[in-house]
Amino acid sequence: MRYELLASAPEALAVPLLAVGVPKSRKTAPAELAPLDAMAGGLIARLFASGDFGGGRDETAVLYLAGAAPRLLLVGLGKPDEASRTVGKTAPADDWRFAIRRAAAVAARRAGSLGTGAVAFAIPPALRGGVGAQDFAQVVVEGAAQGAWQFDELKTPKNDKKPPVETIAVLVEPGEREAAQRGMVIGEAIAEGQALARQLQALPPNRCTPGFLAETAERLAERYGFAVTVLGREQMRQEGMGALLAVAQGTATEPRFITLEYRGAGDSPPIGLVGKGITFDAGGISIKPASQMEDMKYDMSGAAAVLGALEIVGRLRPRLNVVGVIPATDNMPSGTAVRPADVVTSHFGKTIEIVNTDAEGRLILADALSYVRRFKPAAVLDAATLTGAAVFVTGHVASPIMGNDEALIEEVRRAGERAGERCWPLPMYDELRDQNKSEIADVKNSGGRPAATITAGWFLREFVDEYPWVHLDVAGTAYTDSDSPPLPKGPAGVPTRLFAEFLLGRAG
Ligand code: BES
Ligand code: MN
Ligand code: ZN
Repeated sequence: MRYELLASAPEALAVPLLAVGVPKSRKTAPAELAPLDAMAGGLIARLFASGDFGGGRDETAVLYLAGAAPRLLLVGLGKPDEASRTVGKTAPADDWRFAIRRAAAVAARRAGSLGTGAVAFAIPPALRGGVGAQDFAQVVVEGAAQGAWQFDELKTPKNDKKPPVETIAVLVEPGEREAAQRGMVIGEAIAEGQALARQLQALPPNRCTPGFLAETAERLAERYGFAVTVLGREQMRQEGMGALLAVAQGTATEPRFITLEYRGAGDSPPIGLVGKGITFDAGGISIKPASQMEDMKYDMSGAAAVLGALEIVGRLRPRLNVVGVIPATDNMPSGTAVRPADVVTSHFGKTIEIVNTDAEGRLILADALSYVRRFKPAAVLDAATLTGAAVFVTGHVASPIMGNDEALIEEVRRAGERAGERCWPLPMYDELRDQNKSEIADVKNSGGRPAATITAGWFLREFVDEYPWVHLDVAGTAYTDSDSPPLPKGPAGVPTRLFAEFLLGRAG
């Protein structure tokens, strides 16, 4: 992808498609669009008067103009001020950033379907809801890259195919150039990290294996100077990773335990990012039904986001230390697979009765959350497509979060709002911990159906010690099974941007 910052007058712009974001406005076009409408020969005023376009969320209209920018695409922002929460509405600017990012994604997707190859995006400053030039440029780049993203590397190229969007331009006022440039740099890094995560998610499980995730980590280490370690079965055994090994014992695919270390702040305690890396979740002996089982290639989305975040860190080199940890294996049924009723000893030392082999994510994360203690982390964030029940809680628009530190939960929640990857806390009531009690081991790996997302969180917490920790259940947000205007069906890269905003916030 090529990214450009433009600060010329729209009339002088030679781009195949100029997209302009417009907040909701009834019947009359906002006055700030008057200069643009002069260029459009009054078409914008007539469009609004017709009632066919009013700036509603995801609304679009294409106008064909005479001049350097032949296509003018108006994209509705909706009414960002009206976003509603029951509590915790902390930063209205986040809602505007959210709406602008989304409109840029809708614009780039439209550019993709039109085959224009490039998209320039603008909003007159007075219509940005107070979002400054730096944040504006950042979220436009993030959104447009999201909308332009495609995965067709496994399809034989066709020559009648529309060209993909390869250039994203942000159009600002001349006086905004410097601030917008800073936002571009951040936006580009985040966009590329998100794209890496989505590509890894999209790859099928016979290509995106644990070994492939490890090679991806090694490539990042090489490019950005990270330290990397990759453990195989034998080293996992020496480490005592009995929970991860239990999941991996049923598969012919070699498991990997991947650690990446970035140093941007000497010897200070690092931020730990832990991502579930199940490259395919068949459920094991507690096998899943066939319907939609193919979606379980996305069960490595947490791992993808950790790698995406490290791509961003490598590009931006923030002043802090980061350690990324990825336990990776697939979860298969076989004659060597772990059985429901088996008891294993975790890296932490606690024994686990495995009552359901489909609750494998928490097993591999248990060992990773225990392993990460050796880095004496300042905080650890884990991301996992952990429970189907998460979808019942917050659907596909937010991720449930839990943790052992209220301040950290709030810090992560705010990073998510800034990133447009929202999350919402669930209560870790003590009583729910009891559902994981085993008759014969220290803990069992499933607490049954009630509050299944929270009991999964409680299970993880049994293996967290010595550091502040937050868990994100991204089962409903990491990928989507239906198309929406800003995002096609498929991988979403969540929570890559949240990780990035959290790290950038910590680095100051
Ligand atoms: N990877 C799944 C969770 C999942 C389900 C993610 C659907 C995305 C969509 C996880 O490993 C799993 O199977 N969880 C079980 C746990 C249960 C057996 C306690 C679940 O949620 O049903
Ligand atoms: Mn499972
Ligand atoms: Zn799983």
